[in-house]
Amino acid sequence: MRTFLLIILTVILLIFFIMDILWVTLFTFTFAVLKTGGELNDRPIIGILTQEIDYNLNKEYPDQYHSYIAASYVKFVEGAGARPIPIWIGRNDSYYEDILNKINGVLWPGGATYFFQKEGYADAGAAIYRIAKKINDRGEYFPILGICLGFELLTYVAANCVEHRTACSSQNQPLPLEFTHDFREANLFKQVPPDILKILDEENVTANFHQYCVTKEASDLSRVQLIDEFRVLSLNHDKKGLEFISTLEHKRYPFYGVQFHPEKNLYEWVTGKNIPHGRNATLAAQYFANFFVNEARKNLHEFATEQEAKESLIYNYPVTYTALQNSTFQQCYMFKISDRDDLIIDNNV
Ligand SMILES: *[C@@H]1O[C@H](CO)[C@@H](O)[C@H](O)[C@H]1NC(C)=O
Ligand SMILES: *[C@@H]1O[C@H](CO)[C@@H](O)[C@H](O)[C@H]1NC(C)=O
Ligand SMILES: *[C@@H]1O[C@H](CO)[C@@H](O)[C@H](O)[C@H]1NC(C)=O
Ligand SMILES: *[C@@H]1O[C@H](CO)[C@@H](O)[C@H](O)[C@H]1NC(C)=O
Repeated sequence: MRTFLLIILTVILLIFFIMDILWVTLFTFTFAVLKTGGELNDRPIIGILTQEIDYNLNKEYPDQYHSYIAASYVKFVEGAGARPIPIWIGRNDSYYEDILNKINGVLWPGGATYFFQKEGYADAGAAIYRIAKKINDRGEYFPILGICLGFELLTYVAANCVEHRTACSSQNQPLPLEFTHDFREANLFKQVPPDILKILDEENVTANFHQYCVTKEASDLSRVQLIDEFRVLSLNHDKKGLEFISTLEHKRYPFYGVQFHPEKNLYEWVTGKNIPHGRNATLAAQYFANFFVNEARKNLHEFATEQEAKESLIYNYPVTYTALQNSTFQQCYMFKISDRDDLIIDNNV
């Protein structure tokens, strides 16, 4: 009798044991799926593409620097909870491939720089665009935000580097956004709070400083067949009434472009320029920074070690108070050609 009971008990225990293993396996599996599907990265790192040194900066600091990033773009991502690293222009594909697989998103800044110089901003943009699409295609969310010239770069590289911009007159022009009818379906505005939407819709808050525009006209997006790839979210009119695209997003990839300068509302203070700095303009500008950095939190790429990340961050470089030299930028990170070899990531490509 006792042995019989003992056998029953052992069988029951065994059943429990097997079930337990099953549960643990099931739980681990489910957790793993959830982890790759929904985990957020609270330490995002954003790569900001450098540009050929600006004509005016080169006048103020003759022949000292090769490339630069206006500090307002650096602060733009910092203020929304990310750390910035510079991405060099003029590198080969393996460099861009390596760096994009360590960071969580890319910002293409605006600026008065050359677009078509060999191995410059546009060539680097084309490589980044190609690699970012590949990363997204294999299931890793990887956002790009283009601002002003960076917006133009987005449609330019998407059009296989066929120039399609139109000269326009939108210097110093603060504007509200003229939303298209289906803008709410877009990622960029799906969750915009009503008060921010009201500001963007009604007030002259977006800072426009651009001499080229991308229009919906036959000569532009549709000529290069981008209209099927991008959703146009808002339009605006320049000082002569020319209609141009002011925000757009890619239909398949988390790639966004704004023709205006949200970073100027927050961080540029040159006088005599029409940069709205009021409470509402500030709130609206912060919306774009928060949106973009939150997109980058959906990416889990990381540097091999925290030390490698530290040695790649923009804080390895000095920032210069350029407004004292009457630059339109408060501060700039300016790079010498030799700076680019300091980075630890260079040893790995
Ligand atoms: C890319 O450039 C790096 C130097 O930055 C060099 O070591 C590497 O060999 C180059 N790769 C190719 C494929 O050209
Ligand atoms: C700021 O925006 C709010 C809507 O979010 C609006 O009610 C208010 O009038 C605006 N303030 C100014 C000074 O325009
Ligand atoms: C926005 O600016 C335009 C052009 O300067 C002006 O006509 C319009 O009244 C402004 N709108 C608001 C809401 O301030
Ligand atoms: C900056 O502008 C002011 C006012 O026009 C001028 O007095 C000053 O000399 C300029 N500074 C430099 C470094 O050019």
